[in-house]
Amino acid sequence: MLPTLVPVLEALPLGPKGRFIEPFAGSLTVLLNLPAVPSVVCDKNAVLMNFYAALKAHGASFVSSLEPLFTPSGNTREVFDGLRAEFNASHDPERRAQIFIYLNKHAFNGLYRENSKGVFNVPFGRFELVSFPRDELLHLAERLRHVTLAPTGDFERLVDEAQAGDVVYCDPAYVPLSDTSNFTSYGADGFDFDDQFRLARAAERAALRGASVVISNHDTELSRDLYARAEIMNFNIQRSISRAGAERRKAPELLAIYRPSESVAEAEPFGSRMKIKAARSKTPSKAKATP
Ligand SMILES: C[S@@+](CC[C@H](N)C(=O)[O-])C[C@H]1O[C@@H](n2cnc3c(N)ncnc32)[C@H](O)[C@@H]1O
Repeated sequence: MLPTLVPVLEALPLGPKGRFIEPFAGSLTVLLNLPAVPSVVCDKNAVLMNFYAALKAHGASFVSSLEPLFTPSGNTREVFDGLRAEFNASHDPERRAQIFIYLNKHAFNGLYRENSKGVFNVPFGRFELVSFPRDELLHLAERLRHVTLAPTGDFERLVDEAQAGDVVYCDPAYVPLSDTSNFTSYGADGFDFDDQFRLARAAERAALRGASVVISNHDTELSRDLYARAEIMNFNIQRSISRAGAERRKAPELLAIYRPSESVAEAEPFGSRMKIKAARSKTPSKAKATP
């Protein structure tokens, strides 16, 4: 998906005060693959947002505080169960943020899943070796300095804040490929049809205000109906779509692209603005070149 998505986002018009907005932040993979422009993100997963907040606030010192959790002696069921219990009982946001990344890397399949009472309940992952992602975390901490973590948990409020010249990318849980499969759910709440509908309508409103919005989803009749007012770009992606994961075949996906209803004054393509800036800062100014 990324190789298709990034050029699409980079070609969209970003206004002089334009921001990149990602209301379904997840692991922030998309943001990390785009030029570093001022950004705003949110996610319904409050535990994930709490982790980003700690990393943004404390940077390298927070990353160093995590390293002791990533030792061979910490990679046992006993330590995992103890930290999981501490995580579920703790009300200290920073301690929960520290344990979150340990659990994320040591849990079965790297899953984050809560039961209906909001208790993290994924079992130990039995990985032979879990390495400490120091460089990735430091890189993320650096990028988060230019990212606003929106206090809202729900995408709609953030999409409704998008203004002329902003670029919004939405990666919701996908609609089912067939009528028999269920809507994917994350955390304690599912993302149902009403949510898909709210998202499509919010995207239309944002485009009317002059923002660009891209939504990714499965390419189905339902999503074609949902995004009837968008430009559709479809493609196939190699991913496991059966429950057992044994059968791999191409799942059709689409990007629904809502272009701003009017052109934004002085907007430049998202991707080129930062490249132009970087090139300018490398070119010696006339004043400096003249002895
Ligand atoms: C498909 S994932 C996004 C993955 C992300 N693009 C990445 O690179 O990891 C969907 C995300 O949406 C979040 N989410 C689910 N419902 C939401 C809602 N109503 N508002 C905001 N985020 C929501 C989930 O917590 C999950 O992190």
